[in-house]
Amino acid sequence: MSEPDTLGEAVRRGFTADPKRVNSRWLYDDRGSRLFEEITELPEYYLTDCEREIFREHADDVVDRCPPGTELVELGAGSAEKTRHLLSALKRRQGSTTYGPIDISREALDMAVQRFADDDAIEVHPIEASFTEGLAKLGHDPATPRLIAFIGSSIGNMTPEAQRSLLREVRRHLGEEDRFLLGTDLRKDEAPMLSAYDDSQGVTAEFTLNLLRRVNRELDAEFDLGAFEHVVRFDEEKSAIESYLESQRDQTIAIDAIDLTVTFDEGERIHVEDAYKYTDEMLAALFADTGLERRASWIDEDGWFAVHLLAADER
Ligand code: AVJ
Repeated sequence: MSEPDTLGEAVRRGFTADPKRVNSRWLYDDRGSRLFEEITELPEYYLTDCEREIFREHADDVVDRCPPGTELVELGAGSAEKTRHLLSALKRRQGSTTYGPIDISREALDMAVQRFADDDAIEVHPIEASFTEGLAKLGHDPATPRLIAFIGSSIGNMTPEAQRSLLREVRRHLGEEDRFLLGTDLRKDEAPMLSAYDDSQGVTAEFTLNLLRRVNRELDAEFDLGAFEHVVRFDEEKSAIESYLESQRDQTIAIDAIDLTVTFDEGERIHVEDAYKYTDEMLAALFADTGLERRASWIDEDGWFAVHLLAADER
């Protein structure tokens, strides 16, 4: 079943399911997006530092493996700093370039436009759309090769089915000269993964609790944020960090706007996020299943994060 497109429907469906769950996309209202930005600056959140290191050191190499005249398209508009390295590399090689961020958030797109406003060599074409709609809107001029980037391990928050359907969608739009750049977090010892999603300052806890704050405000509910705790675990079989909100007591909460009363047992959890951690085997299967051929991968010094350059396989 596809994800509902309102918070009310998502909460109705997820909070009456057993076990309770809600898709992580609902964590990102304005406050949620700001909290996520804060997470990326935490010492425990290694993902951003590792990926930045890869772009800092290998952006020219990435660009060298793309055909002349390549333009950058990005799924999401939130990863400016890393994108900047790619754009600079494109500029170094071809003098100027075009950047097309695809995002459903007008605010995020405006920020992307602002960021490059004083650079005459970078033409920004924001696309306000979902990834799938945006990809379709791009059109396809074979004379202008594209590098489509999906970084930050954002793919890791999707279900394995959704990961595959997005990659197949990207594959469908890849011309022979186009390339796809994907960032993925890698599986490693549990300790650093667990602290990245349960930091000592409690920013990530605030981030997941923001879901309930949002439900209170937008759906007229009265969740006591002090009565839920942010809990994480690593699921070996899935190879994902799972995040939950755990009820600290038996409680019943009315969600007026959707006419729903929900009961929680002490210790009962709402699943709010998965963050997949990839082994090379998982990546090989993911690419094979979706018609993508790996041309190169770059890994940070610790071997914690990887960026892959992919092309359409021949079929
Ligand atoms: C949005 C995929 C980059 O899963 O690492 C960070 C979201 N959640 N801390 C991730 C997130 C909790 C993040 N990404």
